[in-house]
Amino acid sequence: MDESLGTPDQWGTKTMTAHIIDGKAFAARVREKVAGHVALLKSEAGLTPGLAVVLVGEDPASQVYVRAKGKLTVDVGMASFEHRLDAATSEADLLSLIQSLNADPKVHGILVQLPLPDHLNSDLVINTIDPAKDVDGFHISNVGLLGTGQKSMVPCTPLGCLMMLRDHHGSLSGMDAVIVGRSNIVGKPMAQLLLGESCTVTIAHSRTRNLEEVVRRADIVVAAVGRPEMVPGGWIKPGATVIDVGINRIPAPEKGEGKTRLVGDVEFASAVEVAGAITPVPGGVGPMTIACLLANTVTACCRANGLPEPDGLTV
Ligand code: GUN
Repeated sequence: MDESLGTPDQWGTKTMTAHIIDGKAFAARVREKVAGHVALLKSEAGLTPGLAVVLVGEDPASQVYVRAKGKLTVDVGMASFEHRLDAATSEADLLSLIQSLNADPKVHGILVQLPLPDHLNSDLVINTIDPAKDVDGFHISNVGLLGTGQKSMVPCTPLGCLMMLRDHHGSLSGMDAVIVGRSNIVGKPMAQLLLGESCTVTIAHSRTRNLEEVVRRADIVVAAVGRPEMVPGGWIKPGATVIDVGINRIPAPEKGEGKTRLVGDVEFASAVEVAGAITPVPGGVGPMTIACLLANTVTACCRANGLPEPDGLTV
C-alpha cells in the first residue's frame, strides 16, 4: 500500500462503530430513582410499596427470574411477597390466591410469572388480577388503555426499551420504527408506545415478506422474535438505533465442551459496525425489564393512594 495516499481512515471509509447503550447502568439509575421514591413514601406517607410474585411450577428460567425480582425488590426497600405453587395447582386455587392478593392492601403490584403450566388458562389468570395492581400491564383493561392513549400500567420490557430510546434520541417524532415480533408481551405494546411517540410503526414477524427490506427502512429496529442472531448487520440502515430484546442461549464450543453463551436476536458483531446505537446482550434490555417492574410497582402504589407519581418512571 502506498503510504502517501494516507490510510483508509483518512479516506473516510472507516467503518462506523455504534454507541453501545448501557442498559445495566441505565437500570441501576432507574432502581436508584425507585429507591428514592420508596424512601419518600415510607417517611412521608407511612407506605411501603409491595410486590407479589406468583410462580407456578419449576421452570428453571422462571425460577432464576423470580429470585432476581425478589432480591431487587428488597434492595430498593419494597416488600416482596413470593408465592411458589406446585406445578399441579388447580386453576381455582390460583384464582383464589390472586383474589386474596387483589384484596390485600400491603400488595400494590401482582405478577404471575409466565409461561403457566398447560392446564391453566393464562388469559383468565391474568384478567383476574386487579388492573390497578397489574404491574405487567397484561390485563385486557391495561392493553385497551394503552392502545387508546390513556393512562395505564405499561408492560415492563417495552417501557424499558422506550426509556432507552427517549434517553438516546430525545424526540422520536416522525422516525420509522420497525418491530420484529408480534407478541403480546413485547411487540404489540412496543408498537403502541412508539405510535404514542409519533413514530411511523411497522410490526414485522415470521411471515413478513422481504423482511430484510422492511428492516432496512428503519431508523429504529426493535428485535423481539426469540431467534438467535436472526437480524444480521447487513439488514440495518447505517446509523439506525437497534434495540435487541432477544435473550437466547446457544452452544459455545469455543469456550469449552458443553459451554453456552447468550446472544440476542441481532447479530451484534456485524450490527455494531453499521448501527448508530445498539443495546448489547447481555447488559441491554434485560436489566431494564426488572427495573421497570419496580418502577411500575411504585407507580401503582402512588395511584392506589392518590399520591403524585414520580417523574420519569412511566410514560
Ligand atoms: N415471562 C417472561 N417475561 C415475562 C414478563 O415480562 N412477565 C411475566 N409475568 N412473565 C414473563
